[in-house]
This record gives sequence, C-alpha cells and structure tokens, in this order.
Amino acid sequence: MAVRDMVIWPDPRLRQPSEAVTDFGPSLRQLYQDLVDTMYAERGLGIAALQIGDPRRMFLVEPELAGRAKDDPPVAFVNPEVVWTSEEQQKSDEGCLSFPDIYIQVERPMKARVKAQDLDGNWFEVEGEALMARCLLHEYDHLTGKLLVDFVGPLKRQMIKRKLQKNADRAEV
Ligand code: NI
Repeated sequence: MAVRDMVIWPDPRLRQPSEAVTDFGPSLRQLYQDLVDTMYAERGLGIAALQIGDPRRMFLVEPELAGRAKDDPPVAFVNPEVVWTSEEQQKSDEGCLSFPDIYIQVERPMKARVKAQDLDGNWFEVEGEALMARCLLHEYDHLTGKLLVDFVGPLKRQMIKRKLQKNADRAEV
C-alpha cells in the first residue's frame, strides 16, 4: 500500500499508449492498491495506471460514481474497451489529476458503455451516464495517450503549461 507520485503533464509518459494486462497475479493487485491509495489521497473520481507511471492498461473509478456503495472498493477496469457511445452529447468542465487546478470545457457523449476485465480477469460491461460517462471516457483516453490539452488550441495549451510550471516551481520551494 502506497500513495505514489502523480505524473504531471507535460511528462512524456502520459503520451505512451498503455499495454494490455496479461498477468492477473499479485502484482496487479499491488498496482490496484497503489491506485486506490493515490486516487483517494488526491481526491480523484478516477485514475489511470500511467498517471502513477505504470504502463499497464487499467483505470479505476470511485465507487459511488460507479453506482456502488460509498464504502465499496473503487471499481477496476482492466483492458477496457469503449463498446458504444450515445449520439447525445454533454458539455462541462473537466479536471485531471495530471493537470492540478486546471479545468477545461470538454464535449463528450452523454452515455457510454465500456467492457473490461476485473482483477480476476472476468469480463463485465458497464453503462455510464452524465458524469460517469465522462469519467469512463476521460480515463479511457489516458490509456491511448490522449489528454485534456488535446481539447484546446495551442495558445491555451501554452497558458496551461506555464501555469503548471509555476505551480511546480512553487511546490519545490
Ligand atoms: Ni485524467
């Protein structure tokens, strides 16, 4: 169990596509636990493995958002695929643990269905609506190397880079 350091943009690791999980042994459980600890420490709704520097294709969603009880463990999505999205769209501000204090308006489908494996390798399918759909699609993007800044133009991207750099300098003092 450990809270790990977040990988912050523009760290190039965030651009690497994640790799399929084939080993469902103890090291996957260890990764899951580190992701849980880090997600709760950072107060995220979701987290992808590459955000703590691990290339495995996996993300978590906070239990209440995923339709479980508040005290349930976060839901692990291993080797996820988006199988369907709605025509209907939603637009709202979106944050990301790899972009501290940055919020960007992103248009996404209102509903999304994702199929994935659990920690034992069993396949399941989930349909999310509104914030849950947004979270599923945001975390899925991470696994392909896609990031929040891909939804803005180059000027805004530079602004965000400067702001994050300033924050990093401050944190090191
Ligand atoms: Ni994110």
